[in-house]
Amino acid sequence: MPIHILDARTVARIAAGEVVERPASVVKELLENSIDAGARHIAIDIRDGGTGLIRVSDDGCGIAAAELSLAFTRHATSKISSFDDLDTILSLGFRGEALCSIAAVADVEVITAVDGASSGYSFTQHDGKSSQRPLARAHGTTISVSHLFKAVPARLKFLKSGATETSHIVNIVTNYALAYPEVRFELVIDDRPSLKTSGSGQLRDTCAEILDQNIAVRMISIEAAAGSFSITGLVSPPDMSRANRSGLYFFVNRRWVRSPMLSRAVEEAYHGLLTVGRYPVAVINLSLPPSDIDINIHPAKTEIKFRDDGHIFNFVRQSVRSSLIGEAPVPVISESSAAYHPTAYRQSELSAGSLFDRRPASHAATAATPAQALPALRPLGQVAGCYILAEGPDGLYIIDQHAAHERIMYEKTLAARARQNPSSQSLLQPQTIELSPVEAASLKVLAGLLAQFGFIVEAFGGRSYLVRAVPSALSGHDWLTALREFLNAPESRDQGEEKLAELIACHSAIRAGKNLSPEEVRALLLDLEKAEVPNTCPHGRPTLMKLETSALERHFKRT
Ligand SMILES: Nc1ncnc2c1ncn2[C@@H]1O[C@H](COP(=O)(O)OP(=O)(O)O)[C@@H](O)[C@H]1O
Ligand SMILES: [Mg+2]
Repeated sequence: MPIHILDARTVARIAAGEVVERPASVVKELLENSIDAGARHIAIDIRDGGTGLIRVSDDGCGIAAAELSLAFTRHATSKISSFDDLDTILSLGFRGEALCSIAAVADVEVITAVDGASSGYSFTQHDGKSSQRPLARAHGTTISVSHLFKAVPARLKFLKSGATETSHIVNIVTNYALAYPEVRFELVIDDRPSLKTSGSGQLRDTCAEILDQNIAVRMISIEAAAGSFSITGLVSPPDMSRANRSGLYFFVNRRWVRSPMLSRAVEEAYHGLLTVGRYPVAVINLSLPPSDIDINIHPAKTEIKFRDDGHIFNFVRQSVRSSLIGEAPVPVISESSAAYHPTAYRQSELSAGSLFDRRPASHAATAATPAQALPALRPLGQVAGCYILAEGPDGLYIIDQHAAHERIMYEKTLAARARQNPSSQSLLQPQTIELSPVEAASLKVLAGLLAQFGFIVEAFGGRSYLVRAVPSALSGHDWLTALREFLNAPESRDQGEEKLAELIACHSAIRAGKNLSPEEVRALLLDLEKAEVPNTCPHGRPTLMKLETSALERHFKRT
């Protein structure tokens, strides 16, 4: 076939494929247009997974009659006028491709009216032919898309079941509802109301309305700024997590984006607070100068490039981490646990606690006051060889001795290494060990780090190695298992410090089932009070729980 230029309709259908991949893409583009039009109320109606009907109705600024057919022309937009405008853009759309792409693969009807106009208009486009007539309507725009992909059977064939396509649509609406708490969203699927937000403007309300009421009341606020960046949002407390990343939502300048980098930053903020394989729920809004990002990577505009990835990564991780450490409350046993207890203890309560304590008052004054301090605790005894009971100013504390000691050893180990002062114990008799090829390879990379924690290991020919010294904490414990676990753990390469500290803590911590003397209990409680994050072990399991005095009073009907 000789080279020739394709006709306009073929070009339009080919190009439409990039913008309109599936019904949810249509919903996304229409929602973005409604938001750009300043809508405060957006109603979405879906039938048959979106292939039957997608109708988005808004109370935004409307489209002027004279511009209706232009809006359906490729690269026609009211949002930018030159490429340089992308440096300052805050609207969601700018490519002028959505309406014409949708019209290339579906039948479209628009009913729209601008504020103050004497009449609204209906505009339809079927098979490339359009018509327009006056029709009454309050200001705003309703766009109905039907027979999606009728003319592109190949695409229709690739769609998943109606239920799957519907779930993609619900997902898109959820994203935009979370990004715009001040907008009222209503989604109706096959005539049944599915999702509804109040438009109160409070992100916590939106989370309660569409994610989970129980998580929403307990979510922790994030708010921080650094130079021209700022971050706001809500994240779940460490004791509420999911088995996958489905609860992570990111918005940059109020645009929903997919970003593995941002996911990693949030996940790292929970390091040591969440069990491996569990993920937080987080709704994160970043705002930064448009010139620091590039959103023009793909026509769907959900991928983003940051000018300075590393900087954003650290900013997000640190902001989330410090809010978590500052606010994570100690789990409380109480009859109405729905109430959110924000900052658990403050300095005043720490001092008040010393009134109940037999130790000299100077202890409370000199103790470090970490962001999330425990009050001074008076030891009462041990239960089942595993749990320590202690009295605090506001109730009874039950502490898991192994988990608590693990937390203490973890923080001490990391602190000693930060001071470049690891405590190392030479073995009376250096011990020869055999490593597997994988372990030996990993030792080559990690020997330096091991030495910084007190492990001195030397090559002894072949796969034999000589261990001369081990971290003091592990002396008398199973240091060989700890070493092998470290050499075999995939995360040792990029999170080696934390992993090694975790293993040293785990293998040196007091076992469950060990009876403790009163002195040992007292020492453990003192150390736990000084811990930076006293209420979870390095793997994220809880170390303690509290039975509040008020709960006792209620239970015994004293109030
Ligand atoms: N719901 C709406 N309310 C008001 N104007 C709209 C709406 N939808 C589309 N428009 C107008 O139509 C134009 C073209 O829309 P679109 O093809 O999505 O391109 P873009 O959003 O990139 O500008 C927009 O720039 C806007 O002026
Ligand atoms: Mg658009």
